[in-house]
Amino acid sequence: MSAVQTDELRSEPVTPEPAFELVDVSVTLPAGPSGRPILANVDLQVAAGEIVGIIGPSGTGKTTLLRVLGGLQPPTTGSVRLGGRAVAGPSPDAVTVFQDYASALLPWRSVARNVALPLEGRVSRAERKERVHRALEIVGLAERADEYPWRLSGGMQQRVQIARAIVCEPQVLLLDEPFGALDAITKGSLHDQLLDVHAKTGQTIVFITHDVDEAVYLSDRVMVIHSSPGRIVHEAAIDLSRPRDQIATRDDARFQEVRHELAQALRDGHGG
Ligand SMILES: Nc1ncnc2c1ncn2[C@@H]1O[C@H](COP(=O)(O)OP(=O)(O)O)[C@@H](O)[C@H]1O
Ligand SMILES: [Mg+2]
Repeated sequence: MSAVQTDELRSEPVTPEPAFELVDVSVTLPAGPSGRPILANVDLQVAAGEIVGIIGPSGTGKTTLLRVLGGLQPPTTGSVRLGGRAVAGPSPDAVTVFQDYASALLPWRSVARNVALPLEGRVSRAERKERVHRALEIVGLAERADEYPWRLSGGMQQRVQIARAIVCEPQVLLLDEPFGALDAITKGSLHDQLLDVHAKTGQTIVFITHDVDEAVYLSDRVMVIHSSPGRIVHEAAIDLSRPRDQIATRDDARFQEVRHELAQALRDGHGG
């Protein structure tokens, strides 16, 4: 009997795959005779476990870019890869929380049953109950579990939607202006809960925001998208230590510096 070749036992060198890899992505949507260019020449790499914020004025293609990442909008040209594989449609590995939260919840289901929806038929009843409860606790709505979504404020409905994404425990969370409708205090506490979940799970998070402070507070990197068609005009590395703190992080001179840099890029439509 021959011995097993040592070569066969040697494992492949592990190279960390980027979670997302977009190469020269452009999107043109049907409009008029020649279509309407929405995004142009977007190159973007997101590392596994990274938090990337995307900021830019309205109508610059941010939502379209998120739809491309989530496999909901095929790029007109260029390539999109998730975990080393070409994205050909929506994947259970990447869950999107949409901007339009009001219409995303089912009015005839309670809060808990809305959050449970993606788990139905996938995990046991007991596990479902446990995970739904945990997700609702994270967004601070455990005590509203049995109410109907239309009885809740807009901000609460948005938190239900975030809970429904968290409950899936996806590798990638795509969030379209997730905290836009919330008051400052709720926003701050959700930021910290999101960072807490991220520290525990190491998820990759890409989110869109209009809020420079929010982008800096949450992200490892912030991309500024501008113009029509939208393109990435500036990128800022947020080299602030983690865990972040609502008071100390915002007081950090580096926080002020990056904030300034991003505000300028947003105003001028290009990097410094
Ligand atoms: N399905 C569509 N067909 C044609 N144009 C669209 C479609 N969806 C969005 N647009 C246009 O694309 C541009 C970018 O939209 P969007 O990605 O929603 O921008 P943002 O999220 O930055 O506000 C807007 O001018 C919008 O009107
Ligand atoms: Mg949008």
